[in-house]
Amino acid sequence: MTHSLLILPGDGIGPEIMVEARRVIDWLRTKRGLNFTLYEGLVGGAAYDAYGVPLSDNTLELAKTVDAVLLGAVGGPKWAGVDYDKRPEAGLLALRKELELFANLRPAICFESLVNSSSLKPELVSGLDIMIVRELTGGVYFGKPRGIEDLPDGSRRGINTQVYTTPEIHRIAHVAFELAGKRRGRVTSSDKANVMESGLLWREEVTKIARQYPDIKLDHMLADSCAMQLVRAPKQFDVIVTDNLFGDILSDVAAMLTGSLGMLPSAALGVRGGAAMYEPVHGSAPDIAGQNVANPIATILSLAMALRYTFDCGEEARMIEDAVRSVLAGGLRTTDIMQPGKARVSTTVMGDSILRALDHVSAT
Ligand code: NAD
Ligand code: IPM
Ligand code: MN
Repeated sequence: MTHSLLILPGDGIGPEIMVEARRVIDWLRTKRGLNFTLYEGLVGGAAYDAYGVPLSDNTLELAKTVDAVLLGAVGGPKWAGVDYDKRPEAGLLALRKELELFANLRPAICFESLVNSSSLKPELVSGLDIMIVRELTGGVYFGKPRGIEDLPDGSRRGINTQVYTTPEIHRIAHVAFELAGKRRGRVTSSDKANVMESGLLWREEVTKIARQYPDIKLDHMLADSCAMQLVRAPKQFDVIVTDNLFGDILSDVAAMLTGSLGMLPSAALGVRGGAAMYEPVHGSAPDIAGQNVANPIATILSLAMALRYTFDCGEEARMIEDAVRSVLAGGLRTTDIMQPGKARVSTTVMGDSILRALDHVSAT
């Protein structure tokens, strides 16, 4: 069986962290006999510089034919002046929309050896295991009308539209309830039903879908309160289901509970058996790009998610997670998760160490 994977390193630290993920892929090939057909392409600013667009038609077509896409990160100050529809971020949004990747799974798991790297007290994050289910192809990210208008008085008006339809809400709610059924059986739906009609619709429709899952406990939480609860008592959550914008914000908050944005992987899924894209939650980190200091773990764990959700290689996914756990337990830290008394290592050395740990994990 052959697994086809399109690798899109992107911008900033994207290429550096992707090198380490590729080495894990090579390991899976040689040590586990997995058969990958790899493709590589440009996305984001790199594609804009080469083709004048952040996602070329060829790359999009390729993304539609492969089993999965692994993306690094896009964006950076270099493209700050580029028109909105040609910005690096537009390439990423187009991939999500065109592949209909409506369900974004962002697991926030705190590895035990990182409880002291979190900005929260260790007892608040020890054992943390939250799954954020972010709606990814709707809401204010894609709603129309949108744009910037010139007004007759010389002032300007910026417009974006928050919009959700019942089918969009139903399908993401099903994903959340099904996941909760395999976890601790609880879903928290987060919205702003107190101010937004789209939020009220969200709440009503999620409640309707919940009736099909009598074993799952559903509660609702306003998004601002949810942000507060995430930093007050994060272990109260199991699955959080929320819209595109709140999901973006809440998942960055959740990332810091795990120690660093550099730790959080994600999966963007569509219809079962269809396209899928895996990417770290963090961005291109322009402040540290090119220095070989970025944390490659979020990308490597995103590859593990691809093995689990697309390639049906749960055993290898677990091996990668175990290897990461053991390297962290051994005291190695990239700068973002550095703690007193631990060994600060580069991107490359973190990658080397994970490969060595993989050899060890697979031998036991
Ligand atoms: P960012 O996630 O790139 O960086 C935020 C902070 O976290 C920075 O201090 C950075 O150094 C640090 N950080 C992030 N990832 C890290 C890692 N792997 N290892 C160590 N430290 C890490 O967010 P930003 O600075 O707000 O955005 C920079 C650019 O990235 C923007 O153009 C933004 O649009 C883009 N972005 C892209 C994605 C994506 O491609 N999926 C996600 C978020 C932001
Ligand atoms: C993310 C990023 C993207 C988003 C940007 C880069 C378009 O922040 O994946 O979290 O807002 O969805
Ligand atoms: Mn984000």
